[in-house]
Formats: sequence, structure tokens, C-alpha cells
Amino acid sequence: MVEDCGELPDDTTATRLIHHPYVAPADFESPVVGVHKASTVFFPNMAALRARSWVDKSAYTYGLHGTPTTFTLEARLATLEHARHILLAPSGLSALTVVNMALLKQGDAMLLPDNVYFPSKEFARHEMAAWGVTHQLYDAMNPASLAALLTPAVKLVWLEAPGSVTLEFPDLPALITLVRQHAPQAVIALDNTWGAGLAFNPFELRGADGAVLGVDLTIHALTKYPSGGGDVLMGSIACRDQALYERLAWTHSRLGLGVGANDAEALLRALPSLPLRYHTQDAAARRIATWATQQPQLARVLHPALSGSHGHAHWASQCSAAAGLLTLEFDPRYSAAQVDAFVDGLTYFRIGWSWGGPISLAVPYNPQGMRKLGSAYQGTLVRLCIGLEAVDDLIADLAAGLARMG
Ligand SMILES: Cc1ncc(COP(=O)(O)O)c(C=O)c1O
Repeated sequence: MVEDCGELPDDTTATRLIHHPYVAPADFESPVVGVHKASTVFFPNMAALRARSWVDKSAYTYGLHGTPTTFTLEARLATLEHARHILLAPSGLSALTVVNMALLKQGDAMLLPDNVYFPSKEFARHEMAAWGVTHQLYDAMNPASLAALLTPAVKLVWLEAPGSVTLEFPDLPALITLVRQHAPQAVIALDNTWGAGLAFNPFELRGADGAVLGVDLTIHALTKYPSGGGDVLMGSIACRDQALYERLAWTHSRLGLGVGANDAEALLRALPSLPLRYHTQDAAARRIATWATQQPQLARVLHPALSGSHGHAHWASQCSAAAGLLTLEFDPRYSAAQVDAFVDGLTYFRIGWSWGGPISLAVPYNPQGMRKLGSAYQGTLVRLCIGLEAVDDLIADLAAGLARMG
């Protein structure tokens, strides 16, 4: 038995506060977009409720479908990505996995470059395999290795430019041409995080004969350059085709993915300075890469804009910028422990994953076992992502670290 708590006080304050007649004027404008928060969205009447569709962005439906804040972010990202449609996801990795889940079913196959962002391979090896989707790895720097895998079962081909950590830049038009010729049923998806919408346009690449070739969709870890702060996790999926967008959008909606209004606002605040930050970090990384080629402790410096780097000619023909990443290959005479000590001794480079933020980062990688199809590298690798510090300070930091190694 529940004890009766007596008569409720006859107080209408709550009702009058909830159903308050004041409505702020609609035409407020300021430099920043408002932070709209919602799970419930009101409909003016039943006809409006019945008319609204989840994949149509002309009106609001429910918080997960979007708000003025997220619709504005999507529109600006569509401009950045040279696309028509954008879906937002809670991280770059979740944007990747939505694409896989939307486009693949039991019996299908997908192809990934061996130098793809490592967690993509793990998703293929675990979840996709458990759901009956097979995958194979190809060497992105050898188009023939992709051609050999293009069967009717292949429904999705991933591209990444440049490769993760080792930064080889593939011949994207050649890879796209092969897929269109031998697996026309396959969707071509590119991880565009490095290019960030600024280095090249994946929807309009040029083949050797000048013909326009494009991927079908891109994903972007907005966590990196668009956020720029090292403080927001978000991803996007971008495409041009309406039917493809609807396939992706329905899966995205059924998975219940959304992003927080404050994170969307942080992205909207950061986007205007994206080109400035990206090109500044690009210029700094190129200066550091050029300096690093002269250091005797290093066997190689991996950066697509360096003339000796793997795929430099492809980068030069397809790109107008190069992000802020470079990888140092230490001379194999240095042990992994010595390279760890080099990283530990740095002052301005902090140890941590990700990139695109204001603070420079360094992470060592063991090249052995890193690639299934074999590694071209002998010495320990250190991936540097260049922040916004003064370049001379960063070079002095690296120089002192190298000098300590002898
Ligand atoms: C190339 C690339 N794609 C995707 C991701 C995933 O992004 P997030 O960290 O937002 O999941 C990363 C993260 O490092 C990345 O480097």
C-alpha cells in the first residue's frame, strides 16, 4: 500500500513556467550559431508530424535527426567536403563503421588498403567477419594488387590518402579507375581526414587523361583538423548521391547516432580558422621534414611533399597542400628503447594519439608486424603531428633529442 501524501497544493507555478507565453523574437543574429538542445522537437500540428521524414532536412523531427545547430554544421561541412549530404557521428571511427554497416551484408566482401587506419582493419576482422562479411587487404601503392581482388562480391572499397603512419600517397585516380572497370557494383569510400577538404577534392580527381574521377563518399575524423583543439570527438560522412545518402542515413538513424550540441558548437567555432591552422601546420611540417632529412640519426623522413617519399609524384599531381604530419624512421642501429627515450626526452612534443590540435605530438611505432603485406621500413618509426608552436622551438627540441642519442 502506498501511503497517500495528502492533497497536492493548488499551485499553478510549474504550469505557468512550462507553458509560458513569451516567445523570443526570431530574428536574432550574432557571429556564432546558437546551441540548440533537444530530444523532443515540437510539431505545430498533426499534418506537420505526419509529413516529416528522417532523411529530409527541410524540417525538424527529433533531437537525433538534427537541430538548427547540427544542420548548420552539416551544411558548412558539405561545403568543406565538396559534397551535398553530411551525416554526423560521435567519432571518426564511428563514421567509418556506419559506412560498413550500411553498405555491406552477409556474403559481401570489402577491400581495405594494408596501410589503412588500424582500427578499420580490426572492425573488419571482428564485427564484419562475425556478420558474414569478408575482407581482404591490398597494397595501395601497387594498383595491380587491388585489381586482383575485384570480384562481383566486392561491394565496398576503402581508400586512404596518404597511408596511416607511413604516409605513402597512392595513385587515387588509378585505383578508382580499376574499381569502376572491374567492380562497378562497389561503392568507393575514402578516409579524407588527412586532406581535410583542403588538400584535394576526392569527388573530382583527375585521371591521367584529364577525365574527372571521384569517390562515392568520404569520411572525416572531425576530431583532427576541423576541431583543432584536441578536445572534441566527432566524425562525418559526406556524399553527393541522393540514393547513397538515403542508404547511409537510414542505417545511421536506426543505430541511433547523434552528436552533442556543445560539441557541434565547438566545431562551428573552429571551422572558420581551419584553413589558417591547416596551412600553417602544413608549412611547419614541411620545414621540419626538410630539416630532418639532414639528421644522421634518421634513415628516412616520410612526408608526401618530400621529393624522395613514396608516392610523392601522386601527391604532387593530386594535392595542393599536405597537412601537418611526418614520420621519422630512425637508423636501425637505434633500439626501440633508445627511440622511446628520445620521445620521453622531448619538451614541446607531448606523447599522445590524434592530430590537428595546437600541441605537437609524438608516438613511436614498431614497423615489424605493422603491415600484413610486409613492411618497407627497418628502423623504429616516430609519427610527429605538428601543432601551432613556433617552428624554431620544435626544431630545437628535436635537435636536442637527436643529439642526446649520439
Ligand atoms: C585517418 C584516421 N581516420 C579516422 C580516425 C578516427 O577518428 P576518431 O579518433 O575521431 O575516432 C583517425 C584517428 O586517429 C584517423 O587517424
